[in-house]
Amino acid sequence: MNKTWWKESIIYQIYPRSFNDSNGDGIGDLNGIKEKIPYLNELGVDVIWLSPVFKSPNDDNGYDISDYRDIMNEFGTMEDFDYMLAEAHKYNIKIMMDLVVNHSSDEHEWFQESRKSADNPYRDYYIWKKPVNGEPPTNWGAAFGGSVWEYDEQTGEYYLHLFSKKQPDLNWENPKLRQEVYEMMRFWLDKGIDGFRMDVINFISKDTSYPQGEIHDGHKYGDGGKYYMNGPRIHEFLQEMNKEALSRYDTITVGEMPGVTVEQGKLYTGEDRNELNMVFHFEHVGLGDGNFGKWDPNPWKLTDLKKIFTKWQKGLENEGWNSLYWSNHDQPRAISRWGNDSEEYRVVSGKMIATCLHMMQGSPYIYQGEEIGMTNVHFESIEDYRDIETLNAYRDLTDGALTHEQIFKGIHERSRDNARTPIQWDGSKNAGFTTGTPWIEVNPNYKEINAEAVLKDQHSIFYYYKKLIQMRKQNEVIVYGAFDLLMEDDEQIFAYTRTLGEEVLLVICNFSGESPEFILPDELQHNSRELLIANYNVDPQESIEKLALKPYESRVYKIK
Ligand code: NOJ
Repeated sequence: MNKTWWKESIIYQIYPRSFNDSNGDGIGDLNGIKEKIPYLNELGVDVIWLSPVFKSPNDDNGYDISDYRDIMNEFGTMEDFDYMLAEAHKYNIKIMMDLVVNHSSDEHEWFQESRKSADNPYRDYYIWKKPVNGEPPTNWGAAFGGSVWEYDEQTGEYYLHLFSKKQPDLNWENPKLRQEVYEMMRFWLDKGIDGFRMDVINFISKDTSYPQGEIHDGHKYGDGGKYYMNGPRIHEFLQEMNKEALSRYDTITVGEMPGVTVEQGKLYTGEDRNELNMVFHFEHVGLGDGNFGKWDPNPWKLTDLKKIFTKWQKGLENEGWNSLYWSNHDQPRAISRWGNDSEEYRVVSGKMIATCLHMMQGSPYIYQGEEIGMTNVHFESIEDYRDIETLNAYRDLTDGALTHEQIFKGIHERSRDNARTPIQWDGSKNAGFTTGTPWIEVNPNYKEINAEAVLKDQHSIFYYYKKLIQMRKQNEVIVYGAFDLLMEDDEQIFAYTRTLGEEVLLVICNFSGESPEFILPDELQHNSRELLIANYNVDPQESIEKLALKPYESRVYKIK
């Protein structure tokens, strides 16, 4: 396997709107990020993935871009961006920008032109279709509710939008559009940025025959997924993008890919294929989804989680590269979803899930606030939510499909706003995030859970993350070792080994609030072992042949 810097990197995701507000307008900004670079340096991360900072009317908080070469007013100016980039580079921290090119904003100049007339030079930058018998061309439903087709009076045609109607899909069949995108990528790479996280990038090639989608039980619209995910020309487009932009620089890339399989993952990340470095798959974060997806969630099983991770770990071994994540700006808080956010177990379970993820093969992603142990928020009124996906789902699903109580259970467990409440910097007003009124309420638990508190406590989750990060730098086996699952059928313990040459790492994680027994497999007995990290105070010399684990306990041993 080739060794590269991005395989050895730990990436920290910043959602700028909620990170740190420097000018008191209630919205995080670039100067706010710049101020906190030393904090990220203390944590030890190598790369920052910056969610979109480009000009945007904020229908979807920056994932609707109206100018790809300019900075959103609320976040600052291009000069602020340059300072922030220079500050990060000063600390040897790289910057990975969000590339949102499946769609733009409807306020982008290209779309403004495109909708003017059927023969406008920008018409083919987007996907326009004539009505079929007075109806939209397909029955597909959009991710944020309603049909994917929006009728435009001006020319009497529909345009495609897989997300909101203010996010029209770009037409990748048009070579001119593709060249515009590559040129824009070079503009940012020439500025010195270090790579891209690519938004729903496996959606850019559509089945241009536009078939009808299957309508699932209780749903109004058809599911068009298989006609736009991993479409017919996707690999051609990514290889072209690589040739025209990425290959000319030393970059880190990750493609966000709902619906991607391991087999496709090999094609996207294969070392000799010149497409991407890694992909974000959605298999684990979809666990427990109900008939209405995340909005009516069921409990998930540890054996299913293990199956998914093992499939990806073994599937990409020696062939591609994994990204490792529990959370991001679209997911609930990691501890609330995968650990236990009660007062008793929040910190210990937070450390356990971090151990489980960071010891696997792949590049780990830390979502802002994870390192201080932030949890989901439980707003009581829909008025307190800001996310377009949450608001539209509430509007559409309380219209007969789910009761108010049912959907609120889903919102509390899964709404994207769980991850978007402001970072809790300290115990002062608004958690020290802003001196103004925050654009979304701060989680009321900020007095106990905040960065100032964890920085003062050597046993905190922050320093535990820091140690995990350092361990990766000091032990090649954590980066390059092969993964093998132990205790496949156990519903409480997630245990595995990593092997590189003579070196073996043993990782034991108890995902339950009980005390299950770990039994050391024969092949790992009679060796000398060194305890690398543990989330309880344990005797490093303790025999582990038979171990009664404490609730949410985790340990990592190096075995020789
Ligand atoms: C995925 C992004 O992560 C999400 O926040 C956004 O709403 C959609 N793509 C559409 O851009």
